Amino acid sequence: MSRIKGALIGCGFFARNQLHAWKGIEGVEIVAICDRDETRLAEAGDAFGISRRYTDAGRMFDEGGFDFVDIATTVPSHRPLVEMAARAGGGDGLHVICQKPFAENMDDAREMIAAVEATGKTFMVHENFRWQSAVRAAIEELRNNAIGTPFFGRVSFRSGYDVFAGQPYLAEGKRFIIEDLGIHILDISRALIGDVARISATTKRINPEIRGEDVATILLAHENGVTSVVDCSYATRRSPETFPETLLEIDGTDGTLRLDAGYRLTIQSGGGEDIRDVAPPVLPWAEPPWHNIQESVALIQQHFVDSLSEGRAPETSGDDNLKTFALVEAAYLSAAEGRTVALAEL
Ligand SMILES: NC(=O)c1ccc[n+]([C@@H]2O[C@H](COP(=O)([O-])OP(=O)(O)OC[C@H]3O[C@@H](n4cnc5c(N)ncnc54)[C@H](O)[C@@H]3O)[C@@H](O)[C@H]2O)c1
Repeated sequence: MSRIKGALIGCGFFARNQLHAWKGIEGVEIVAICDRDETRLAEAGDAFGISRRYTDAGRMFDEGGFDFVDIATTVPSHRPLVEMAARAGGGDGLHVICQKPFAENMDDAREMIAAVEATGKTFMVHENFRWQSAVRAAIEELRNNAIGTPFFGRVSFRSGYDVFAGQPYLAEGKRFIIEDLGIHILDISRALIGDVARISATTKRINPEIRGEDVATILLAHENGVTSVVDCSYATRRSPETFPETLLEIDGTDGTLRLDAGYRLTIQSGGGEDIRDVAPPVLPWAEPPWHNIQESVALIQQHFVDSLSEGRAPETSGDDNLKTFALVEAAYLSAAEGRTVALAEL
């Protein structure tokens, strides 16, 4: 496939990882960037040697010259930007990657998917957590039937890390942990175990300085009869601090799989035990403890490029990620109304 050209919108906190990762992917060049904040735009442009810079996304789309757009802004701008991308090139549209959460509500999410689908282009949600190599190793083990048929899962993220320092907007929203972090953990549960039929959730706010919930415990009844628990907390002070690791525990008919702190994967089955170090590499531009997330960014972006060249939908296409997004909406509904919510209701 010939070299593909991309543009990135939103040069904020997380976009740096995306820009670094694009630099490392063969056959891709980011030719233009956009941010309405001129200082951030200049910093990113200088750091990554990108000369086409825009404060107005509309102008960037009008001038064109790229095949895909990588949208790394926060959620309120996602729908207008995705729709602009679909109208670009006189309606030919562009391939689109959009950060999570990709929409503010289910209706917007469906409209965004439909807008890109009408152009025949690819729409991927940047849902990177399932691309962490340690999580990938667990997914592979389950696919290879290492513990037989799963009947229980726990996907857990508990930390006291100060995420508000880098992302102050997280303290301000009515919703916090399920929408921002739980969305990834719910997606990992889907990737490991499958789609979900019913959900029950409780939420709590421990940190008085923030507006939304910082603790959520979610029970998932999967369509295949498996039960899983997704538990998330940013109020858990523990040592060692495991941020930003997702820990796993899966019970199957023939054994158990655990991903413990420190990226230790244990498979017990048939009376034997296999313990593996599945620690991710620290990429040259990465910085612990973020390196596992940073590696997952490089892996999902490579997956996007591979999907384009192979002409298949990415694993976290808009249609796929709508199911993860629905879990977020269902979890908030369940917590608000104190009842189990069937996904079919959404
Ligand atoms: N996948 C992950 O692991 C991960 C981690 C952190 C953040 N995120 C997601 O990435 C997104 C961005 O988060 P962040 O922390 O980098 O936010 P941020 O506020 O630091 O950066 C967003 C940038 O987008 C710019 N922007 C907003 N609307 C714009 C518009 N219409 N046109 C041009 N520029 C615009 C802002 O000026 C800002 O510089 C969010 O959706 C967040 O949930 C994902």
